[in-house]
Amino acid sequence: MNIKDSWLKSGYVNESVPTNIDIKKEIVRLKEEKDAIIMAHFYQTNEIQDIADFVGDSLALAQKAAKTDAKIIVLAGVHFMGETAKILSPYKTVLVPDLNAGCSLADSCPPEAFKAFVDKHPDHTVLTYVNTTAKIKALSDIVVTSTNAKNIVDSLPKDEKIIFGPDRNLGNYLNSISGREMVLWDGACHVHEKFSVEKIVELKAEHPDAVVLAHPECKKPLLLLADFIGSTAALLKHSISSDANKFIVATESGIIHQMQKESPEKVFIPAPPNDSTCACNDCEYMKLNSLEKLYNALKYEWPSIDVDEEIRKDAVKPINRMLEISKKAGL
Ligand code: 13P
Ligand code: SF4
Repeated sequence: MNIKDSWLKSGYVNESVPTNIDIKKEIVRLKEEKDAIIMAHFYQTNEIQDIADFVGDSLALAQKAAKTDAKIIVLAGVHFMGETAKILSPYKTVLVPDLNAGCSLADSCPPEAFKAFVDKHPDHTVLTYVNTTAKIKALSDIVVTSTNAKNIVDSLPKDEKIIFGPDRNLGNYLNSISGREMVLWDGACHVHEKFSVEKIVELKAEHPDAVVLAHPECKKPLLLLADFIGSTAALLKHSISSDANKFIVATESGIIHQMQKESPEKVFIPAPPNDSTCACNDCEYMKLNSLEKLYNALKYEWPSIDVDEEIRKDAVKPINRMLEISKKAGL
């Protein structure tokens, strides 16, 4: 098998980085030479977040991808984030350091089954969370992220019938705060579902002054004991503005890097998962990306994201609706 075929098979450029180079300097050099921007999600490793030009939540990454002038976007995140960037900027090269960086939530919503679900509810508006494939977005009326979901739901008439997918936890949470009865798809994120309520209760007893921060992808019992619920960006903002000095953080542990950078004097305790034998508060997909893979992606301009043009044309509309509503809401 030749080298390119082996890369195709592995989903990333499987080449060792020479030991005599300073990889961080080389990434910066390649980025400038190729007119590339490095964008990273909050769940990336600390070193990727630190080398990125832009670090943000799903909404901020989409907004940035829509307006960047760079020729190449390196999206250090998972596949659907790269796909969203490509849908918004079809003439740019969009690289994801490792194509295997998928998402269990996106996987919990197969297009054929979701199409049948949509067809079963013909008079419903289709809202979908951004953690989906391009094919699901193409079946949607409006895409949402955890930052703008409440604003988008509230922007629709009170009597509008809505189906929401794929995250049942976010969907239930939105129903509870908006007074809606959206029909929910039964999907979930394996990372957020694994946080242990019992262990968080124990931690709260040990640290009575700690504030529990939770992402709405967590299960309802956990959300019920949270002091603050929000997207990664909202959790970060709250950790900065809050008077509290200690936080139990129920989302992927990567966000703690920014929290700690913003508030070095505060204490951040990652919420423990049910299964103590695994680091379940890490998303193994997000953590597939590494500095080495990022360097190789820039060097070889591969692996790049492609989206079928027919699907892209349908998928861009609900994403643009999301961006328009977010803009009006000042998000
Ligand atoms: P946000 O960063 O938009 O809150 O999303 C979290 C997430 O699950 C990304 O996979
Ligand atoms: Fe998907 Fe969950 Fe990983 Fe986010 S944390 S990318 S929702 S699997």
